[in-house]
Amino acid sequence: MPLPIGMKVGAGGTASADPPLKTGTAPVLAPASAAGREFHFTAADFERVRQLIHKHAGISLAPIKQDMVYSRLARRLRALNMTSFDQYLAYLEQGHAAEWETFVNSLTTNLTSFFRENHHFEMLQKHLLRLAQRPIRIWCSAASTGEEPYSLAITACEVFNTLTPPVQIHASDIDTNVLKTAARGEYPVDRIERLDAERQRKYFVRGAGVPTSQVRVRPELQKLITYSRINLLDAQWPSAKGPFDALFCRNVMIYFDKPTQYQILKKFVPLLHPDGLLYAGHSESFLHATDLFRSLGRTVYERADRRK
Ligand SMILES: C[S@@+](CC[C@H](N)C(=O)[O-])C[C@H]1O[C@@H](n2cnc3c(N)ncnc32)[C@H](O)[C@@H]1O
Repeated sequence: MPLPIGMKVGAGGTASADPPLKTGTAPVLAPASAAGREFHFTAADFERVRQLIHKHAGISLAPIKQDMVYSRLARRLRALNMTSFDQYLAYLEQGHAAEWETFVNSLTTNLTSFFRENHHFEMLQKHLLRLAQRPIRIWCSAASTGEEPYSLAITACEVFNTLTPPVQIHASDIDTNVLKTAARGEYPVDRIERLDAERQRKYFVRGAGVPTSQVRVRPELQKLITYSRINLLDAQWPSAKGPFDALFCRNVMIYFDKPTQYQILKKFVPLLHPDGLLYAGHSESFLHATDLFRSLGRTVYERADRRK
């Protein structure tokens, strides 16, 4: 079940829990393959998984991911008391919505960090200072576990020198599990080790009910962010209500082929304010879409139709 669209998460709030899927105990099965695997997993099964996730989420799984796919989906077979990948994939193909969500959640790659590609946050600072309209609106469209939207929130607090800047951030992702982590805002201490001491002290809480191995983002940051599940491949994104002054779409386009990227970029244009900026990931280039976006260098783009 997707997070409620446009859901606001308050101080220390969490997204509502999805109803648990059937959680049977794993049947004890004899290893079924030479590699000692519990379930048969053939090249044809892997190809079927690849096709399904590519069609649904645009994600291209490299052949090297075969073991990762096996171990993540074997858990699903156990949870559903199934005995073969064929049975599981047929179940998916029948269109069981809840399992589709878990299937996608199982196969996403969610690597992220606070202030990843820091130069973008430096550019955003300057960008925010130039903006006259209020509130300023930012869409973080592949938010993963939240480090990116919280880095945006911290940047806004620093620019306006307050914990209540005139900024609204909408964070979305296809993966509902990561969105729950993001909304919870609790991280292992080592996730913030590379932030300077001032940022650690100002924007994160230790103690006060937070386990010692964890830190929690300040509730004021959480209040700046709303969440919804958005699959960038979907034809409509009803919860992405533009126009946005800044659109972060970083390190996700890399999974999509060029025609898919183009379709997404085309839908970004009307959602971005004419003076807005699109921030892409370090290895993502949109030179195949110069009719839509013009590069400003360092993987930041403006609308190609922007009047100078
Ligand atoms: C590598 S993470 C990048 C996170 C963050 N933007 C960053 O740069 O640190 C990629 C994210 O894209 C999400 N994703 C993958 N396919 C997607 C799709 N079709 N629509 C929306 N998000 C998607 C994944 O769930 C994952 O959280």
